[in-house]
Parts: sequence; structure tokens; C-alpha cells
Amino acid sequence: MQLSTRNLLGIKDLTKEDISLILSTAEQFKEVLQRPVKKVPSLRDVTIVNLFYENSTRTRFSFELAEKRLSADTINFAASTSSAAKGETLLDTVNNILSMKVDMVVMRHSASGAPHFLAQHIPAAIINAGDGINEHPTQGLLDAFSIKESTGTLEGRKVAIIGDIMHSRVAQSNIYLLKKMGAEVTVCGPPTLIPKYISEALGVNVSYNLKETLEWCDVANVLRIQLERQNQVLFSSLREYSLAYGINRTLLDSLHKEIVIMHPGPINRGVELDSDVADSKQSIILQQVENGVAVRGGSFLPSRRKSRPPPFKNGKARTSGAPPSQFLLLIEKKATIHPKKKPNPTRETTK
Ligand code: MLT
Repeated sequence: MQLSTRNLLGIKDLTKEDISLILSTAEQFKEVLQRPVKKVPSLRDVTIVNLFYENSTRTRFSFELAEKRLSADTINFAASTSSAAKGETLLDTVNNILSMKVDMVVMRHSASGAPHFLAQHIPAAIINAGDGINEHPTQGLLDAFSIKESTGTLEGRKVAIIGDIMHSRVAQSNIYLLKKMGAEVTVCGPPTLIPKYISEALGVNVSYNLKETLEWCDVANVLRIQLERQNQVLFSSLREYSLAYGINRTLLDSLHKEIVIMHPGPINRGVELDSDVADSKQSIILQQVENGVAVRGGSFLPSRRKSRPPPFKNGKARTSGAPPSQFLLLIEKKATIHPKKKPNPTRETTK
């Protein structure tokens, strides 16, 4: 099975089959990540630059960790400590990096569409790690993975996305993905933070009533107010926002069922979520973070297809490109190597 796309720019471009393939690869990679020896050679000889023009904690670390577990060589770029601060253009920066023989780019940028622009100008495969208010595809994938893991299925699942829908790339990627996979979605928040025609455009329900929405859903994915992306006042104060849309213990206990609480992070405690909700057993927030490594590893699959194949299969030199299933084979192969056994000399010396 192959993915229909080379770059991973957004969930909008993926088919249902693409999504299932990434999620099932992530499932296998998650199993690898539980082993005493967590490293597999799937991305050996592949060099990846993590190009972050915007702050990040979870996304950057989980990409980097996945790359290391898959044996890629990685370099990290932060805009504030690079020549971008001296006025270098995005394209110049990237072409300079690529001239050092870099194969893949993982990119975060505050401008919506930045990775799409880059994809038209460079030969290396690109994974979008969040572009402005547009998409954050790997977050959408890891959220879906976590919903499936904790509730068993995406099909027919009722998911509420609560908060600043207007400025959230996480909301957009979640909506595209959940709708493609047959879930029902309701977005909930103040009218000023929900795009006007979202219901017609994306096929979601809209609610301004938090309690009703929580009564309806199986899973609530709670979002941060993206103050850094708002250039006008869209609600009176954080305190009032919290009174109307913040989720606290009393509210959760008043519901007729137990729902799953998610948040992509960073949490503003006491605003959209109280600590006794964020840290409760209903919350799968840290599971989402753990799954981020597995899903980001799985997300290298579409790009891997067009980059160089792993040099050996079953100890013999490979002569043709590897299909994506090779990624899985390499994980399986590693599974048979006992950590305490001496390394197989054929594998070690034939590189
Ligand atoms: C993002 O990068 O969009 C985060 O994962 C969510 C947030 O910043 O609120």
C-alpha cells in the first residue's frame, strides 16, 4: 500500500486510506518504542532538518525523538538563532541547508501556507509541523490515534472541539481528519472565535453552549486561546472566557456520562481547563504527547517512499527503491534482534 502524497502538508490532501496507513504504521512504531532497545534502521542515511520558525516544545521534541529512533541524521534550525534574524529569506535559508545534502524538511512557520510555498520550490520532501492558522497535520493524526486507542474507534465517535476554533490549526486538521474517518464533530466556543460558515464549509455542528456540547460528546478536545494570532479584541477577558467556556470538575461531575478530555498543549491552566480536570483520570493529555512520537515516526512514511531506499534487505544489497511497506519490514526485523545478543557482523559491515 502506498500513500497518495509525497509531502505531508495537510490532512485536507490525504485520503481515508492514507490516514489509516499512517495510523497503523504509528501503531507498529509505538510497539517498537516500548522495547528496551528502541532504535530501528528505517531512516538510516536519511538527513532531516527540523526547521522551526515558531516556538515549539512537544512537536519539535517528538519529531526529533522519532527521527533518532528511526536512525536518521538530524539538524535543528531555530529562526531566532539563525541568519533568518539577519533578513535571509525562507527560500535562501532552505536552499543553503539543502546544498549540504539534506533529504527532508520538517517545518513550522507562523505564516499559513509557508510549507506549501516551499514544496513548489525545493526537491526535498516536506512535513508540515504547523503553519499559521492553517493546519497541523501530525497533531490531527496523533489526536485521532489517541481517540482510537482510548475509545476503540473513530467511526461514529462524537468529538467536540472547544475553544478558539478561528485561529487553531489543530482544530482545522482535526476536523478534516475526523470527518474523513466518519466521526461526528461539534465545534463550541464564543461566536467571535468560530468562523461564520464553518458548518457549511466543513460539515460540523456549531454550538455556543458548553454544557450541552459536553453532554453530547464522547470526547472533548479543548484548545488554548491563540492570543498571539489575534490582532483585535474578540472576547471581554480571559476570566469571563473561563467562566463561560472553561472546563472544571463541578461541570464534568454534573454530566450524565464520563467523557474523555484531550488538549494539544500548551495548557493555560485555569483558563480553558482546571488542573483537577487536566490531571484527572479522564484526561489523556500525556498519552497524546506519548503518541506524538509514534505518529510522527509513522508520518515519515509518505516522504520515505521517494527518498533513497535502505541499503540492505535481509543482509543483501538492494537494487531498487523500497516500497513503504519496507518501513514496516525494518521494524519487524529489528523485533527479532535480542538487545543482549552480539550484533550480526553481516549487517554491521555491509553498510
Ligand atoms: C500548535 O502548535 O498549534 C499547538 O500544538 C497548539 C497550541 O499552540 O495551542
